[in-house]
Amino acid sequence: MSADIVISQVSKQFRGGALALQDVSLQVEDGDFVSLLGPSGCGKSTLLKMIAGLTLPSSGTIAVDGILPANARQLMSFIFQDPTLLPWRTVEENVGLGLELGGMAAAPRKAKVEEMLELVGLTAARTRYPRQLSGGMKMRVSIARALASRPSILLLDEPFAALDEMTRDRLNDELLRLYAERQQTMVFVTHSVAEAVFLSRRIVILAPHPGRVAHIVTNDLPWPRPAGIRLSAEFDAQAAYVSRLLRGVHAEAPSL
Ligand SMILES: Nc1ncnc2c1ncn2[C@@H]1O[C@H](COP(=O)(O)OP(=O)(O)OP(=O)(O)O)[C@@H](O)[C@H]1O
Ligand SMILES: [Mg+2]
Repeated sequence: MSADIVISQVSKQFRGGALALQDVSLQVEDGDFVSLLGPSGCGKSTLLKMIAGLTLPSSGTIAVDGILPANARQLMSFIFQDPTLLPWRTVEENVGLGLELGGMAAAPRKAKVEEMLELVGLTAARTRYPRQLSGGMKMRVSIARALASRPSILLLDEPFAALDEMTRDRLNDELLRLYAERQQTMVFVTHSVAEAVFLSRRIVILAPHPGRVAHIVTNDLPWPRPAGIRLSAEFDAQAAYVSRLLRGVHAEAPSL
């Protein structure tokens, strides 16, 4: 199950603050995997939160599966840049939260939580509380919780930034495996060109001050991504191309 996202001429002006986004239009098709890349402060998180229906645009419209984002929340899961865990719940209770709220019975929920804990490598930490976890572990709990409920749309805000490179590569592989299996629509924010190139079908490069779409790159690496593609010449070429575009956007940005 997946769903599409249509963003039309969206601007966001925070009260008393900067124009965070100006006139952003973007369509994310059913089952697409889109990465958002751009300098810090260009409005990536703001755009993701508006898609999720957590913040309203100042002007313009967003439709998720044809309806207002706030009415489409049950279609979406959000992995926030700062993991938001309930401090009084253990790791396994945090991972199972969405399933519990969705009314899933205890036995299948337990099995699902176990599968997800294994996926993110946290089986041994299942009974710990968030305060007993490292930043990367908290992030993995948040990832496991979002993946457990099989949303049609997954919104991910730099989910792997706090992780070591090996763990990050492994979770990138797992994310692509889940994507192939579930056909979810993915919107993925990252600062890593390599990650964007490895994962996505399209890469949207945003420019800052005000935040806007500067380039949309169709990633022509083969699907499914063959093992070892990260070490190939075509991967390097695609990454070099995206890096060049991103450097251009940084060069344009006035210094703060
Ligand atoms: N709640 C808010 N109130 C006022 N201004 C905000 C708010 N949230 C974000 N902004 C501003 O909007 C702009 C875009 O912020 P946003 O967090 O979307 O950037 P980002 O691209 O996600 O950056 P990063 O890569 O550092 O996470 C910034 O100038 C930021 O200061
Ligand atoms: Mg952000």
